[in-house]
Amino acid sequence: MTTVRPDFAIEQNWQAYSEEEHAIWRLLFERQQRLLVGRACREYLDGLRGLGVAADGIPDFRGLSDILDRSTGWQIVAVPGLVPDDVFFAHLARRRFPSTCFIRRRDQLDYIQEPDVFHDICGHVPLLMNPVFADYLQAYGEGGLKALGLGHLQRLARLYWYTVEFGLIATEEGLRIYGSGILSSAGESVYCLDDPRPRRLRFDLRRIMRTRYRIDDFQQLYFVIHDFEELFEATRPDFAPIYREVAALPDLEPTARLDQDREFALGSPNGGSRKKNWAAHQRGPSLGRKRLEDVRQDHNR
Ligand SMILES: [Fe+2]
Repeated sequence: MTTVRPDFAIEQNWQAYSEEEHAIWRLLFERQQRLLVGRACREYLDGLRGLGVAADGIPDFRGLSDILDRSTGWQIVAVPGLVPDDVFFAHLARRRFPSTCFIRRRDQLDYIQEPDVFHDICGHVPLLMNPVFADYLQAYGEGGLKALGLGHLQRLARLYWYTVEFGLIATEEGLRIYGSGILSSAGESVYCLDDPRPRRLRFDLRRIMRTRYRIDDFQQLYFVIHDFEELFEATRPDFAPIYREVAALPDLEPTARLDQDREFALGSPNGGSRKKNWAAHQRGPSLGRKRLEDVRQDHNR
């Protein structure tokens, strides 16, 4: 029987994975690698290579943690699934990334409701090899603990959603993906860059904190950063006065349009230019790190 420690850490029990589970990893990994060339940001692809995450099968977290620890001081902690917010933030603040161990079934290749090991390891962990992103995620964890105390968790969760899960980055070659919810989704990794329907706005901390998000479909709105330093700098100030300022303004739907919005048009400089080939992959929404409340809402629908 699995022992769950007070911080929800468990043993990954790598040797217990079946051939079928490794085969599902291979399918998912190979499909994403084909799609992500020219779509994922360079830092992500470098991280994946540096970690040695590959098609062979579900990685052993111990090996990944050794490499991560030497590179940026992060480790992976196996957890049984979604963990309470305070536990999640406390891990991040200590440079420990909580990862689920189970992998989706073969009939769930395109969508499952909760994060699985493919989403967590292939989507999230490679960017932790980047020193600036690694610092950002730790700062986010520290900010999460403060937000819990201040009662503004929802606003901080939106920042996670629109950056860590669904963020885009502008490069000289065009827009690229760094959000793990997109990187682990075949459909959304094409849709987010190629489809004319979603809007792609310049990163704006306050606007993000006001903007709701959808968990049951592709995003209608993405926010674009210039570089990871921008992200880290955005989390540097004390958020308490920003929360108060944002709380005085109405929340926004993802479809809302504001005069201040700075939009990246497809085909514009740093906006990318691609043919519309996403339809073949339009099979299901992508997977973010849903918070426990989100999952409960889903169940109540
Ligand atoms: Fe996630």
